[in-house]
Amino acid sequence: MRLAVIVLAAGEGTRMKSSRPKVLHTVCEEPMVNFVLEAAEKLNPERTIVVVGRKAEMVKEDLSCFGERVEFAHQDKQLGTGHAVSICEESLKDFEGMVFVLSGDTPLLRAGTLGKLLDVHEKTGAAASILTARMNNPTGYGRIIRSSDGAVLSIIEEKDATDKERAITEVNTGTYCFDKNKLFEVLKKVDSNNQQGEFYLTDVIGILRDQGEKVMANATDDSNEVMGINSRVQLAKAEKALRQQINEKLMLSGVTIVDPETTFIAAHVEIGKDTVIHPMTFISGKTKIGEGCNIGPMTRLIDCKVGDSVLIENSIVRESTIEDGAELGPFCHIRPGTLVKSGAKVGAFAEVKKSEVGVGSKVPHLSYIGDTKIGDYVNIGAGTITCNYDGTDKYETVIGDGAFIGSDTMLVAPVRVGKEAFTGAGSVISKDVPDGSLAVERSEQVVVDNWAEKKRKRKDIKKG
Ligand code: UD1
Ligand code: CA
Repeated sequence: MRLAVIVLAAGEGTRMKSSRPKVLHTVCEEPMVNFVLEAAEKLNPERTIVVVGRKAEMVKEDLSCFGERVEFAHQDKQLGTGHAVSICEESLKDFEGMVFVLSGDTPLLRAGTLGKLLDVHEKTGAAASILTARMNNPTGYGRIIRSSDGAVLSIIEEKDATDKERAITEVNTGTYCFDKNKLFEVLKKVDSNNQQGEFYLTDVIGILRDQGEKVMANATDDSNEVMGINSRVQLAKAEKALRQQINEKLMLSGVTIVDPETTFIAAHVEIGKDTVIHPMTFISGKTKIGEGCNIGPMTRLIDCKVGDSVLIENSIVRESTIEDGAELGPFCHIRPGTLVKSGAKVGAFAEVKKSEVGVGSKVPHLSYIGDTKIGDYVNIGAGTITCNYDGTDKYETVIGDGAFIGSDTMLVAPVRVGKEAFTGAGSVISKDVPDGSLAVERSEQVVVDNWAEKKRKRKDIKKG
């Protein structure tokens, strides 16, 4: 059977009180509408149309990652969900088959649940099938009206419902499957004669039933999954529910999460087995972590690639690669474009930017390393700073394999320190240091004998 998907994403999202379109608000870092499209894609639809309107350009830009797979239909005025669907009639005029309608504000919907609804729809040959849910607190949702024998009669919006109808706990999730021709034919009969003065998609159900068509409803028990996000309070609830799902999936795949309540992992992060994630840790973007690592506590990783058996504690690491067996922290800041090679260590209060730290090399304390290539088995003394910026341009520092940089060395870039070369502590190195040599740049120490006693005497004279 042929399938087209329509995703409604044109609404303003007034209840969010935001200048950002509602469907672009994020859950575990991903815009809500992206989740909806990812779930829809798993149904392998022939066509996918997103209805955009409010801040359409922003929504289209966000969805550009789906490329040609997604088409857009413009709803200039947001006259209601029924009106939004009717906008797609023209682009689907040559399409015959089923139309799945999804809301851009139900980010937790799973493809499996959509698949089940599709099955019911196909098997029963219904004109429409609705995904419904039983909710302890159905406030804000449309209610499913059934006849005494259980058949679906219509959907009534909360604002138009009587007290008795409001007591119904089975709700419309805003997810439906329709026979395409019947959907567009009946949409023409929908009016805006209701409390909100809108053309409701939900009215289609009652009209189809009045015409003697078959309407099915498939109920899910997971009220979290079908949660429609209208306010930031609901957004936070969805965030919590999704976070729990992500953590549970990882734990079931062999990752230890010491405290799931304080561990924040984005939807597309990958973590290998026997890695332990300690409390207060945030793992973002497309980060990929290998096996047997210890990450956290109090750590943030953003778009990083981390190998196996890596240790990272109390640190922030961004857009960088950390190879097997490396150690970071506590308290280091690794900025974009850094490669920490295997067995290397970056320690307390060190900042490394766009640099390479070679195999087994160490930057253990209090350093700034920027635009630098550190070879293998190099030791960088405490307090070493690469002076990479002259106020206008950035310059590179190169440190050869096996070099030893004395504590508090200033490496004024562009500069090269040769293989197995040394720099004396406290030196300002502005010229290249050849392989195997020592560079010292500091004035000779002066010793004044008995200075303390002389000073005391001077003070005594003053006091008189
Ligand atoms: C809708 C349903 C309600 C259901 C609930 C589930 C209607 C009339 N009501 O209510 O029965 O319980 O979803 O979450 O359909 N949109 C447009 N154009 C418009 C209006 C809305 O594209 O003119 C889009 C919105 O961007 C949103 C979706 O449609 O993504 C749903 O709209 P929303 O206003 O959130 O509907 P609800 O009041 O939640
Ligand atoms: Ca909604």
